[in-house]
Amino acid sequence: MTVVLSIDQGTSGTKAIVVGSAGETLAIAEAELRPRYGEGGVVEQDPRALLRSVLETGRRAVAEAGHPIDVVALANQGETVLAWDRGTGAPLSPAIVWQDRRAASVCAGLSEHAEWVAERTGLVLDSYFSAPKMAWLRGNVTTEGVVTTVDTWLLHHLTGEFVTDAATASRSLLTDVDTAAWDPELIGLFGLDDEPLPRIVACDEIIGTTRAFGAPTPVAGLIVDQQAALLAEACLDAGAAKCTFGTGAFLLANTGATAVRSTAGLTSSVAWRAAGQTAYCVDGQVYTAASAIRWIRDLGFIRTAGELDTVAARQADGTLCVPALAGLAAPWWRPDATATFTGMTLSTGPEHLVLAVLQGIAAQVATLCELVTGDLGTPLTRLRADGGLTRSRTLMQAQADLAQMPVDVYPSAHATPLGAAALARLALDPRMTLREAVGPWRPAAVYEPVWSAERATEFRSTWTAVAEATVRKGDPT
Ligand code: G3P
Repeated sequence: MTVVLSIDQGTSGTKAIVVGSAGETLAIAEAELRPRYGEGGVVEQDPRALLRSVLETGRRAVAEAGHPIDVVALANQGETVLAWDRGTGAPLSPAIVWQDRRAASVCAGLSEHAEWVAERTGLVLDSYFSAPKMAWLRGNVTTEGVVTTVDTWLLHHLTGEFVTDAATASRSLLTDVDTAAWDPELIGLFGLDDEPLPRIVACDEIIGTTRAFGAPTPVAGLIVDQQAALLAEACLDAGAAKCTFGTGAFLLANTGATAVRSTAGLTSSVAWRAAGQTAYCVDGQVYTAASAIRWIRDLGFIRTAGELDTVAARQADGTLCVPALAGLAAPWWRPDATATFTGMTLSTGPEHLVLAVLQGIAAQVATLCELVTGDLGTPLTRLRADGGLTRSRTLMQAQADLAQMPVDVYPSAHATPLGAAALARLALDPRMTLREAVGPWRPAAVYEPVWSAERATEFRSTWTAVAEATVRKGDPT
């Protein structure tokens, strides 16, 4: 009988849920966060606002649940970093969000090492990951304090410990993916040799206790948000895949005990280290999904994301969109790519632009589904989906049509905190198996493809040509 306070500290908001022993949600509290966007690829957050949101939502959820909690779990945004003072806990820099592209110059300077870095880390030498941003902070903002991912800073405030989990560490470009341990050669490459790095812990390790939410409570269940959702959606066996449609859209496929080296431009990292085992996943990223929707909302095309299905045109008019509003990740890896709309005429209305953005997100995810198949060695036949944008029927149908596979929508809006909660349950009751801790689920909806394979192929080849042209625009002349 374990009651978990599970906190999902994400890019667009923080969500705290209290989860009962059968996985039922007893209380929810949420706080919206708005990153600061600036020219030159700036995407920053105020670290104090992140911490405040964790404490405030956690306390509200506990008060609403009216039930003592046994353990606190934390899912984090993965590759967002900051500098901070270990003595006072005070931030010494803004949080540089994973979407921020300023560290592209660090990667460009190291490009001759790209191949061995990819082989060693399973990742791609790109500003998305933590280490280039850590090096950029050191070169441009401050040499004081420590520089870590946000989870380490939050956990320091909750418990006084200096830790990160194996999944988060594997997103840094500083670990050997096969051992999931810090790698001195990589640390040296990024000029971070003198940096104290946090201890890497298992995702189901009890790392300390916190008094932040009432009585002293153990803290366990630490993981990257994407991997947490993979776990919640019970993608426990090699070949099972999910896509979380959040701020970005992230496709992850379990590859079992092996960290594959993608031949298709995808990346490999630790899915979780739990129950004494390390599981791996291959992943592909669409940097702007809900943040593209927020953008069209701010431009006035929709008033809320809830209007997507009523506003989006029923039929496309030939308008296509590559929503590369924060660059392109797998398989292009072009932080300099920008968004494109093509095919518009005088009769194109906001409804066509909205549909084109949704189809653009789905087309990117469909590309990732195809690429993942090569790395898994077996075709992906179904996709599990979670995240706020799964509420859009238009998007989910476009996803099934363009990927030409059924999409099973996760029944809860809380996959990420539920995944972290499963790890926390495991931490408190190590006799459980991971499968028992996660539990079964049935899709809330299943979207079957209605487009023919020919129609999907035709759309995707036109869309891919636009994406390639978008990428070529940034090629050196
Ligand atoms: O890699 C970044 C990703 O994990 C962030 O997820 O939910 O904050 O958009 P989210």
